[in-house]
Amino acid sequence: MPTLTIDDLGITTQRHGRDIALVDGLTLTLETGRILALVGPSGSGKSLTASGAQGVLPAGVSRRTGRVLLDGVEQRPSLIRGRTIATIMQNPRSAFNPVKTMRAHALETLTAVGHRDAGSEDTIRDTMAEVGLDDPARVLGLHPFEMSGGMLQRMMIALALLTRAPFLFADEPTTDIDLVVQARLLDLIERVARERHLGVLLITHDMGVVARLADDVHVMSAGRIVERGSVRAIFDAPAHPVTQSLIAAHLALYVDEEAA
Ligand SMILES: Nc1ncnc2c1ncn2[C@@H]1O[C@H](COP(=O)(O)OP(=O)(O)O)[C@@H](O)[C@H]1O
Ligand SMILES: [Mg+2]
Repeated sequence: MPTLTIDDLGITTQRHGRDIALVDGLTLTLETGRILALVGPSGSGKSLTASGAQGVLPAGVSRRTGRVLLDGVEQRPSLIRGRTIATIMQNPRSAFNPVKTMRAHALETLTAVGHRDAGSEDTIRDTMAEVGLDDPARVLGLHPFEMSGGMLQRMMIALALLTRAPFLFADEPTTDIDLVVQARLLDLIERVARERHLGVLLITHDMGVVARLADDVHVMSAGRIVERGSVRAIFDAPAHPVTQSLIAAHLALYVDEEAA
């Protein structure tokens, strides 16, 4: 079973001339065919963990420690991005170049990972159909502004699949999308992950998403993992106060929805 390990990741920022830890001693392992949810309150370090592992940190923060291992062998972050790890981000609109068509985006992705060939147009259309984008020939000619958020998110999933990376990082993939479309996109992510046997790091603050999709859960608080377990164990017997409050927030919302 291929595994991807983030080992002892430490990320800091400078405040008033001192190092502040934003992610601290974080270790986790993904396995292909399993969905691991990384949950935690806003600001707990989930997104920095994902970007730090891929060597794409924002300005103002730096990686102090940490390695990424593929089947136990250390990898250069620049070589795993796109090839070993594909990503789906929160805001699909900002992930696309506004002046480029979907065809240009798809061809660029294939070129970047070295899979562009004479059959590319067919591969792209098949992959778009796989993620539920009907009429790929038409959609390939569209620019981002001509598409809904839900369509763009499907296209981002198609681009992730085109890389043929065995691991997928999805950072709050449905947060910016309306509720009905959210549920369909979550089902889609789950279906393609299972069919293609991907190892998924699913970042979310929403325990409803976790209950729906994940196999395993790691809970983050203030830059550290404070609890790990199967979805079942985390919901049945949450041990850490942060886990308990995430579940309480989820249950409160769920009861409201049931009553409405
Ligand atoms: N570029 C940055 N410079 C300084 N601090 C940052 C930067 N990006 C994030 N942080 C801080 O790091 C912490 C974790 O951020 P993040 O990983 O985005 O949290 P999460 O994704 O869990 O909501 C937050 O306190 C945030 O303010
Ligand atoms: Mg985040």
